[in-house]
Amino acid sequence: MGSLPQTSTSSLSSREGEGAAVPVHVAMIMDGNGRWARSRNLPVAAGHRKGAEAVQDCVRSAIRQGVRYLTLYAFSSENWRRSAEEVGDLTSLLRFYLRHKLNELHEQGVRLRVIGEPERFEGALREELRRAEAKTASNTTLTLTLALSYGGRADIVQAARRLADQVASGTLASSDITEERLDQALQTSDMPDPDLVIRTSGECRLSNFLLWQSAYAELVFMDVLWPDFGEAEFVQALSHFAGRQRRFGGRPA
Ligand code: IPE
Ligand code: IPE
Ligand code: MG
Repeated sequence: MGSLPQTSTSSLSSREGEGAAVPVHVAMIMDGNGRWARSRNLPVAAGHRKGAEAVQDCVRSAIRQGVRYLTLYAFSSENWRRSAEEVGDLTSLLRFYLRHKLNELHEQGVRLRVIGEPERFEGALREELRRAEAKTASNTTLTLTLALSYGGRADIVQAARRLADQVASGTLASSDITEERLDQALQTSDMPDPDLVIRTSGECRLSNFLLWQSAYAELVFMDVLWPDFGEAEFVQALSHFAGRQRRFGGRPA
């Protein structure tokens, strides 16, 4: 839902709270675990472990601040270029959290979803993810989406392929391929576009995250490394967002 400017106006995509607008959907590029570990002469795995703790804080902050959708970039389609050892550390960490923290998420009213290509991970993790999605499916406080083996380009390609199949089978005319239809064929079809994309670690790039969906997102790049990202930084990013004027191509009133 919501790739078109007219469906992404500020009234729909961010709520007026007590004074400042709270983004409905915050998407997070959690970067800097490696540098956090290196600066302490620790193995990269220690940075990822600390980063996973920051994820828990971030979920709590999002709920407290009234954010309804939180999408976390946990593993990109390009992160397979890392060593088997690092990929193994990350998948074990994710399994550990799903096993030990799922009940807490469930009690907080979190609905967990996965986008990307989770099928590329080993079977035990896939099964944990599937169970977690099923268990939390009817929760409504926060939709927490994990982007796992996710690539924005790959999502657009699979959407194009789905529409091409419909054209080939005669159920769709190519002239009926619109922004809405392509949007609906993406893995994010049941969530609003991100209002705010935050990247930690000082890098100022999207690294293939939510490319289509971020067309009109506000971008906030922060110098903090992901393991050091806490509620204060979350609130700071929300206050940057509240100070932005969104225009969606129009002329401000
Ligand atoms: C982000 O931290 C976590 C993942 C990409 C999985 P990095 O591991 O990329 O940290 P840096 O960029 O090397 O500091
Ligand atoms: C982006 O971080 C992906 C995630 C945070 C999961 P990277 O560290 O992989 O991005 P680049 O390589 O610096 O662009
Ligand atoms: Mg990085």
